[in-house]
Amino acid sequence: MIQEDNAQREGKKYGGKVTPFVLVICLVAATGGLIFGYDVGVTGATTSNEFLRKFFPSVYIKMKCELDKEDGYCKYDSQMLTLFTSSIYMAAMVAPIFASSVTTAYGRRTSMILGGLVFFVGSLLGSAAMNIQMLIIGRLLLGVGVGFGNQSVPVYLSEMAPTKLRGALNIFFQMAITVGILVSSLVHYSTSNLGGDWGWRFPLGFAAILGLIMALGSLLLPDTPNFILTKGQNGKAKELLQKIRGTEEVDDEFQELFKASEAAKKVENPWKSITERRHRPQFVLCILIPFFQQLTGINVVMFYAPVLFKTLGFGDRAALMSAVLTGIVNVLATLVAILLVDKLGRRFLFFQGAIQMIICQTTVAVMIGLRYGSTGEGFFTTTEANMALFLICAYVAAFAWSWGPLGWLVPSEICPLEIRSVGQAINVSLNMTLTFAINQGFLSMLCYMKFGLFFFFVLFQIMMTIFIYFFVPETKRVPIEDMKRVWKAHWFWQDFVPDY
Ligand code: BGC
Repeated sequence: MIQEDNAQREGKKYGGKVTPFVLVICLVAATGGLIFGYDVGVTGATTSNEFLRKFFPSVYIKMKCELDKEDGYCKYDSQMLTLFTSSIYMAAMVAPIFASSVTTAYGRRTSMILGGLVFFVGSLLGSAAMNIQMLIIGRLLLGVGVGFGNQSVPVYLSEMAPTKLRGALNIFFQMAITVGILVSSLVHYSTSNLGGDWGWRFPLGFAAILGLIMALGSLLLPDTPNFILTKGQNGKAKELLQKIRGTEEVDDEFQELFKASEAAKKVENPWKSITERRHRPQFVLCILIPFFQQLTGINVVMFYAPVLFKTLGFGDRAALMSAVLTGIVNVLATLVAILLVDKLGRRFLFFQGAIQMIICQTTVAVMIGLRYGSTGEGFFTTTEANMALFLICAYVAAFAWSWGPLGWLVPSEICPLEIRSVGQAINVSLNMTLTFAINQGFLSMLCYMKFGLFFFFVLFQIMMTIFIYFFVPETKRVPIEDMKRVWKAHWFWQDFVPDY
């Protein structure tokens, strides 16, 4: 670990400052996170009675019957109920593979515009749906939009940002995700009383605005100098670099970008290249980071907070309000990550966040185990229910300043230019696959594993902390095209990376 610090000290430092131009660019680009966040928020919410009666009458009847089930842990278990909502993640698993080709060949900006537009059309189609076909096509288009956005935006941000602030600017993306989730729960909260179809048409249609913001915003943005160089437009790339760094003195950084783009031009098949031995650290991290991010169990809270709080004894409206509360905590705690990530580093946040999650989730699991036992029948006193709410908020906060943002930041900054796009595609595809699996499997798992399910997630949180300790080096303040020195200084990965 000491070696890593040395590597950073010896690493390159480029001139330039943080210009208002680069800040605005990154803010606009980050709005791409809104569409993903909004969908996470929608996932647990499109199942209003009107909606189910109209499109899924058999699910509606089944759900009504299942609510009478005896076992408290199994009340809400219905595969049918979740299959529709999680269909968005199926599309988002596949889309990044195509997005990575667009991002490599036509630029990060093109993928962002496409993502916003497809999402826009999908939202309109869904909210105007007259039949199930329209609804499902709309939903799949939303997934395609998210797949394109999540593949391209983090890469765009990491390439645009000056090294010393790369973490913070990249986390604008996670900030937009959390704002999207909060907006979605507020929209649902305020439209849940609207009678008839508007209760579901309005929230689905509202998403169109977010898609439009992303598409129009991206239209105004320049592409990154890194991408422009791969197209051989050296003069244009240098001019842009000078503009975003606010200085004429960009020669050192430009040289590094140039070298990286020459190396990238030589690679014919980035998918093959990322599986080669010399790219083993990036390949492994782009697989394990999304895997572990989802196995923190965060989406159990994001998707099922109202159900969870109801089970813990909160009334209907109090349960919805508690979900809004976790949404607010999520946004505020992301700010903490923005402020600290380039000072304390990624590893510190990874450790601190995981330890806090382990403590909070273990305590909640023990509390539920003691009160609800293995039948799921029981109750919390008001003090206990409030304590559970506090612990869940502390758990969300821990995720929001660690694994949440770092799950998007780290994969986008560790890959060399020639495999950056595919590395991020792997990250997004796996993230969406796991999100799908958790959404689909959680209610059944809760039914079978009971309170033990929460210990299941704790087990993964322990494993991911060990993994970070041994295999994830610190990348703060290391220039993105100079990351090789980090692997070269790492006790395990150094043997995989060739000398340079
Ligand atoms: C994760 C999502 C999660 C969200 C919560 C993101 O980083 O990828 O799955 O719902 O954070 O804020």
